[in-house]
Amino acid sequence: MGHIIPQLNDGTLFINRAYVNGDWIEAKSGEEFEVYDPATGILIGTCPEFSTVDVEKAILAAVEAFSLNRKMLARQRARILHRWYQLIMDNAEDLATLITWENGKPLADARDEVTYAASFLEWFSEEAPRIYGDTIPSIIPEHRIITIKEPVGVCALITPWNFPAAMITRKIAPALAAGCTVILKPPAETPFTANALVELAHRAGVPNGFINIVTAMSNTAHIGKMLTTNPEVHKVSFTGSTNIGKILMEQAASSIKKVSWELGGNAPFIIFDDVENLDAAVDAALTAKFRNSGQTCVCANRIYIQSRQYEKFAKRFSDGVKRFKLGHGFHDGVTHGPLIHKRAVEKVDEQVRDAVAKGATIMIGGKRSIELGPNFYEPTVLTGMTKDMLLASEETFGPVAGLFSFEAEQDVVKLANCAEVGLAGYFFSSSMARVFRVAEALKVGMVGVNTGRISEAASPFGGVKQSGFGREGSKYGIDEYVTTKTITFGGLNPLE
Ligand code: SIN
Repeated sequence: MGHIIPQLNDGTLFINRAYVNGDWIEAKSGEEFEVYDPATGILIGTCPEFSTVDVEKAILAAVEAFSLNRKMLARQRARILHRWYQLIMDNAEDLATLITWENGKPLADARDEVTYAASFLEWFSEEAPRIYGDTIPSIIPEHRIITIKEPVGVCALITPWNFPAAMITRKIAPALAAGCTVILKPPAETPFTANALVELAHRAGVPNGFINIVTAMSNTAHIGKMLTTNPEVHKVSFTGSTNIGKILMEQAASSIKKVSWELGGNAPFIIFDDVENLDAAVDAALTAKFRNSGQTCVCANRIYIQSRQYEKFAKRFSDGVKRFKLGHGFHDGVTHGPLIHKRAVEKVDEQVRDAVAKGATIMIGGKRSIELGPNFYEPTVLTGMTKDMLLASEETFGPVAGLFSFEAEQDVVKLANCAEVGLAGYFFSSSMARVFRVAEALKVGMVGVNTGRISEAASPFGGVKQSGFGREGSKYGIDEYVTTKTITFGGLNPLE
């Protein structure tokens, strides 16, 4: 693949430093790590490899700035967040370019992500002045009780590479709106989008120390431990795999931090025989499965089709996949980019080989796309899937759709619910009674009924079981960054 070195309209948004207390700095050791374009393998740039001493500095900056944010009026916070929102929209093309460059997703998807990322700032700028407490009747006649919401304190936010911008704003916006300060650890794969976003926060007037970025690759686990065990950090929010979530949770237990975890998924997508518009179901399943080349926690992972519709669905679904164009995200007409790295490709290929060895048939795809580069895998559709195959129990996080056939509603609900995780679930049905029955029966945090699109700032995002807990976005997103303080007033004269 040709050398693609994109140009930004504003070249100063490409920043190869980390951000502490308002300054873009290097690691004290001078060490750096390298970031590569996943489509071409070409070096994009380097970022500081932070270690203990650098992270301590970032924590200190967040601790010192916290008292300033606490004192700020909610309306002031709202205005700053709104300015940041506007700057992101004004610089959307540059942010999209950075996302495509370091994550690989097609430019159109990167543009959508920028809008999605900005929407959390707009949303929480509106929530900031509406963080209310309660007044509570007491059983003691001369008492009155009120509650106030206070910022939890310094927050560590650990974010993934699959949405290099949106997963950051979904955490930072409510944290700042609530009056917290943050230390952000972006992934080593996509630090440049994080840096550009935070440079725009700086330009929007976010005061020094409110946001600090610690970048690292080799020291990531060590930094995770520092952030989850440091007593000055009061909250950790993590989006990533269930396995890493378990490690971080154990670490965070040592100082009883408030935590919220958005972990892995293994979403069922069910098409019932009674569906009136099969084409809509096909389109929704294509979106839910292949968004970001299958690299989202809410991607459909197991597609269950009731037997009467199976053949028709499989044919139309494969025809839809045939229309995809795999390639570099900057190239015109490309609908799907590379996976993030070789390990991801290996995992996907292992699931495909396993399914085929156990009797599945490849309708389309089923192999690496070597001519494009080592991180490309052909969008793949497998039929004849059975529950003993790896794909039935493991999150794929890649562009492979396994189509399972089922007969009865109770069987498919049982199959859908047998996963250890429970983030999203989707189904298509035209029966009102079934819609409510199945939506209530699915053991997941989010259900898409007759749609494959469930993510927006207004909607609570989060899971159950081993997909984690806590909700991001929505009116509940703030709850993760505040504590409730109860104030009881005594000595008040009851009514005569
Ligand atoms: C994720 O994959 O964790 C986020 C997906 C989304 O926000 O839709």
